[in-house]
Amino acid sequence: MDFLDPPPNIIIQPMQPGDVAEVVRVHLASFPGFFLTFLGNDFLSLLYKSIQSDPIGYVLVASCNGQIQGFVAGVAQQSGFYRRLIEKHKWKFAFASAWPVVKKPHIAPKLLMALQKPADVRDAAADACLMSIAVRPEAEGQGIGRQLFAALYREFSAFGVPAICLTTGRDANERANRFYQRLGFELTRCFFTPEGRALNEYVIQDSGTKLIFESRADNGWLH
Ligand SMILES: CC(C)(COP(=O)(O)OP(=O)(O)OC[C@H]1O[C@@H](n2cnc3c(N)ncnc32)[C@H](O)[C@@H]1OP(=O)(O)O)[C@@H](O)C(=O)NCCC(=O)NCCS
Repeated sequence: MDFLDPPPNIIIQPMQPGDVAEVVRVHLASFPGFFLTFLGNDFLSLLYKSIQSDPIGYVLVASCNGQIQGFVAGVAQQSGFYRRLIEKHKWKFAFASAWPVVKKPHIAPKLLMALQKPADVRDAAADACLMSIAVRPEAEGQGIGRQLFAALYREFSAFGVPAICLTTGRDANERANRFYQRLGFELTRCFFTPEGRALNEYVIQDSGTKLIFESRADNGWLH
């Protein structure tokens, strides 16, 4: 078996148009109460489709017996990505977020900032970015998250990406923080959003993939 093969019966492949609704369902189940979750189905569908259709964007899904168990989304170069996103899809995003903004008008500035991402990208520890990763709650703890990340890393390697960064909530988010630390990510800084939410930024360098392999061996996936 290849180092980067997923565990038996899990298939990891690029998201297809027919997978989008299920990816959104996994997102909604995995991120309750989050801002993007509040923006709803139409917005999330458009977001994941836009990432996947971008030349440097990836949405990979992990399936078992035809059912999607999780997904990972990321871009190999954040610089330029958000500008392209807005230029290409601004009216679609405006339409998809119209109803959430009508329900809660005070979210409009946050929405604009989220789509433009000016400060985050300028200060980011790496240009390649893991944007979101989620595993269906009932499938957690089986190594699927680790394999999704390994698959994204393999795709990014084709671009010669030297490092990947991500941000995640600092507080009340033990599971995600531990998950990233176990994958080999290192904490680079903590910063606050304009709303006062504390975020941890992590980065993993090229050599960090060794940790993935070592732990895979511990789990008995290497023969
Ligand atoms: C975070 C998440 C993607 C992990 O997926 P998963 O499939 O359960 O993770 P894995 O089974 O592949 O675990 C990978 C490693 O993380 C560790 N890990 C996972 N959950 C953990 C927890 N709650 N506490 C400590 N370690 C944990 C595992 O021990 C494993 O390390 P090991 O193999 O070296 O022992 C999943 O829990 C999830 O979807 N959470 C909700 C969404 C979210 O928070 N996403 C991340 C923020 S964008």
